[in-house]
Amino acid sequence: MCGIIGYIGARQATPLLVGGLKKLEYRGYDSAGVSVFHEGTSRVVRCRGKLSGLEDKLVREPAPGTVGIGHTRWATHGRPSDENSHPHKVGPISVIHNGIIENHLALRAELAASGAQFSSETDTEIFAHLVSRELATAPDLTTAVRKALVKVRGSYAFVVMSDKEPGTLVAAKNSSPLVVGLGEGENFVASDVTAILSETRKVIFIDEGEIVTVKREGVTITDFDGKPRVRDHKVITWSAVQAEKGGFKHFMLKEIHEQPRAVADTLTGRVDLERDDVTLDGVDLDVAKIKRVVFVACGTSYHASLVGEFLVEALARLPVEVDLASEFRYRDPIIGPGDLVVAVSQSGETLDTMEAVREAKKKGATVLAISNVVESSIPRLCDHAFYTHAGPEIGVASTKAFTTQLVAMALLAIYLGRRTNALSREKARALIGELVQLPQKMRDVVETGAQLQVLARRYGNANGFLFLGRGAQYPIALEGALKLKEISYIHAEGYAAGEMKHGPIALIDETLPVVVLVPRGPHYDKVVSNLAEVRARQGKVLAVATKGDTEIGGHADDVVLVPETAVELQPILTVLPLQMLSYYVADGKGTDVDQPRNLAKSVTVE
Ligand code: AGP
Repeated sequence: MCGIIGYIGARQATPLLVGGLKKLEYRGYDSAGVSVFHEGTSRVVRCRGKLSGLEDKLVREPAPGTVGIGHTRWATHGRPSDENSHPHKVGPISVIHNGIIENHLALRAELAASGAQFSSETDTEIFAHLVSRELATAPDLTTAVRKALVKVRGSYAFVVMSDKEPGTLVAAKNSSPLVVGLGEGENFVASDVTAILSETRKVIFIDEGEIVTVKREGVTITDFDGKPRVRDHKVITWSAVQAEKGGFKHFMLKEIHEQPRAVADTLTGRVDLERDDVTLDGVDLDVAKIKRVVFVACGTSYHASLVGEFLVEALARLPVEVDLASEFRYRDPIIGPGDLVVAVSQSGETLDTMEAVREAKKKGATVLAISNVVESSIPRLCDHAFYTHAGPEIGVASTKAFTTQLVAMALLAIYLGRRTNALSREKARALIGELVQLPQKMRDVVETGAQLQVLARRYGNANGFLFLGRGAQYPIALEGALKLKEISYIHAEGYAAGEMKHGPIALIDETLPVVVLVPRGPHYDKVVSNLAEVRARQGKVLAVATKGDTEIGGHADDVVLVPETAVELQPILTVLPLQMLSYYVADGKGTDVDQPRNLAKSVTVE
């Protein structure tokens, strides 16, 4: 997730671009850069690190001019470095990009074979080459961009500028946000209204599959075939702070709603529908040598790892252990070559997990990081790294980082399963088919927010909650309880449903809401029995079940339904109502949802 902005008008572009980027820095701060056209050529000034670094550089290397583009980067392809910073310039073309080019490896090979030379490791530079080539024969920049887009698969918002046509910016959108800001004799384009709100409130939100040609005098929108699209502008009434949250009240709510897009990004370029297989980017494990998989993680990442245990055992038939990183390092774990240790950390900076990695490496294990932050400390320490591409998560309570970790677990399990031969090609095909449908199904669930708001009002005054689940739903019960306690400060316990009778059943009375995860699957009847045990003791049951389940209503006080999917992937859907329940309970109580008391986004102390 990166921040992008473009300006064309009569004012100096650089201060406007930098001002906009300041509002976008929350989207990524691995590097920043601008390209500004002046006296026949555009000048690129860019550098690794935060925007303040770019500001300092611009003092030494000013970029005058009234047309320009700017970018703040959240690294996906290629480490954070000066060379990988945007804009990328190839010949007369400067490009900025938010998103991922799925077929970048094939395109890079094709371009290299015909003589292209690359100066970065990014997927974005490929697009600059493609447009530059098309421009040689195209009548204008818009046509060149349109022709180049035909070759590109993936999610993107691009903004392109050409030294040969300096009165034009061309932007295109597929799955990544893009908005045009309309001014008097000047216009803007950005990934986010926040970036332009101080300059104009008249905007057009660009739709999927649209190309917009932005000039000083006005904007023209077409589809990818060149057919005109007529669009009305909107007037934004949000405050600047609201706009940063995309109009949502809190970052957490915004991030809950971003999950379908985040999961689509985790999947981009990783599933091979022709070979019924997955790729883990550059990760190439010697699977024949793996005797055991050991996950180490903390908090929400630990819960994702417990789902990982279920998936890897089921699909790859390898023995799995899951350890809290803070325990692992202090118990002289029996570990060595033949163990694949998977360190799961959204931030990539959690000290306990980092020390667990050091311990595993010391003992000769192969260590793979699953992280959301490219080049953070843990991935750098590990032998291999796999990134979830969820974009920066601002809310302290993890939501999109968790669901994308679950997708990473599924990809890892399929990868291992195909290579241990425990997973048949048919089963892999079925699972991959379900994986690619997840973003739409997740969208259906996050749209049930109003129901969760009502339920939060109904149950939100309770002094405690119990969450129950079996199999892969047990970690989701743990996660539901963690989410609720960390933002609402209500005590909550997550339990394996079958364990309830061994103790927590004593808690049950009419004041205790019990959230039961009971999607259709092998444990369904058993969980329904546990649910009956709760109701026999006057406990209040809120069931999370599968759409089409007509039976469950008879066993629960309230039911939330999620779409059907493969049993292995159900956690990715069932956790969504729990995140929303926690959010609305906390919001009803008026707690500081995004920065709950006593917590920090990344825990770099023991
Ligand atoms: C989750 O909502 C919490 N903020 C917390 O449990 C978190 O998952 C934990 O601190 C681990 O963080 P990491 O994934 O960045 O390593």
